[in-house]
Amino acid sequence: MYELKVRASKTYGITIAENLSLFTERVLPLITGASVAIITDDKVSALYGGALDGFFTAKRVIKIVIRHGEKSKNAANYLKIINALAENGFTREDTVIALGGGVIGDIAGFAASTYMRGITLIQVPTTLLAAVDSSVGGKTAIDLNAGKNLCGTFYQPSAVYINTGFLKTLPVKEIKNGLGEVIKYAFLSDTVRKEDIGDINAALIYKCLKIKRDIVEKDEKESGCRALLNLGHTVGHAIERLSGYKLSHGACVAKGMVYAVEVSKRIYGLSDETVSNMYALLKSGKHDLSCGYSAESIARQLAADKKRYGDRVNFIAVKDIGKAEIVKIKISDLKTMMEDYESSFKSV
Ligand SMILES: NC(=O)c1ccc[n+]([C@@H]2O[C@H](COP(=O)([O-])OP(=O)(O)OC[C@H]3O[C@@H](n4cnc5c(N)ncnc54)[C@H](O)[C@@H]3O)[C@@H](O)[C@H]2O)c1
Ligand SMILES: [Zn+2]
Repeated sequence: MYELKVRASKTYGITIAENLSLFTERVLPLITGASVAIITDDKVSALYGGALDGFFTAKRVIKIVIRHGEKSKNAANYLKIINALAENGFTREDTVIALGGGVIGDIAGFAASTYMRGITLIQVPTTLLAAVDSSVGGKTAIDLNAGKNLCGTFYQPSAVYINTGFLKTLPVKEIKNGLGEVIKYAFLSDTVRKEDIGDINAALIYKCLKIKRDIVEKDEKESGCRALLNLGHTVGHAIERLSGYKLSHGACVAKGMVYAVEVSKRIYGLSDETVSNMYALLKSGKHDLSCGYSAESIARQLAADKKRYGDRVNFIAVKDIGKAEIVKIKISDLKTMMEDYESSFKSV
């Protein structure tokens, strides 16, 4: 069992356990109202929909189930959730529990943060990605037609309870999805090592979340160093969009990390040894690291990115494993470096 405390605008605990045996002690005291809404998706509901029921015999529990998948992280489901809370008479004393992956965490978090200007939120992640990333840090969101995560809030949960037992039913694709983020952490800090990555357990999740916690505590609202968590994401998001969201987020982050290495190599003149250590780390997630999209098409996506600053983007570069920094770089310069990588690749 591992525990972490996050000291942000709200102070809260993260429990990482192999079962639910600490749920009563760590989570129930935070649930003061009479009603609890468990928000989940249909797949998670079939597997674990009843897993928390025994803890709430003295409460009124409602369950709100939405269809699985990113398409469900939309305004219609957001309204469905908050209307269900209202119709069931939820007050500011009551609690929302997000039981699921990042889609559920984000939409339930957004609903909890806006319903009556904020009610208690408990995150119970069931995917590796949600466990190591989205359940912690307080970013909530829904997608709009114009793009992903365009509408959201910063709203910290009151607790995060990670039961690694839930992760046992994840298909390989979803494990790899989460491993994309795990590898990102391994580049941000040398505490997550290549050898750790093969074994998905509480210790690994703890190491990842400790890195995220330390960054979030310094910069909760992403005005500075929190951008480091976007390592691999600048290009990763572009690839995700180019794939029409057919490739998973983590798979795209892994591909984006290749560009982080290749661009960093060109910015800093990294030694061959450093680059080969970085590739060894990248390969440990067993992702397909080929890209399939041209530097030109990636640059075009970056130019359309809402997060750009004029003709520049924030690029997270790595001087070495454990030494990342934020570089504001011209999209045209990034394109030149990506093209140089592309031509070296073609000549091999
Ligand atoms: N808020 C943040 O800081 C943050 C960070 C990263 C990603 N995100 C968001 O997270 C979302 C992606 O999250 P995700 O990858 O967890 O996707 P997801 O929630 O869609 O889950 C992936 C799939 O796994 C299924 N599933 C969930 N738990 C399972 C289990 N234990 N066993 C078997 N199947 C299970 C789900 O039903 C779904 O089909 C995106 O919307 C992304 O924008 C948010
Ligand atoms: Zn990510």
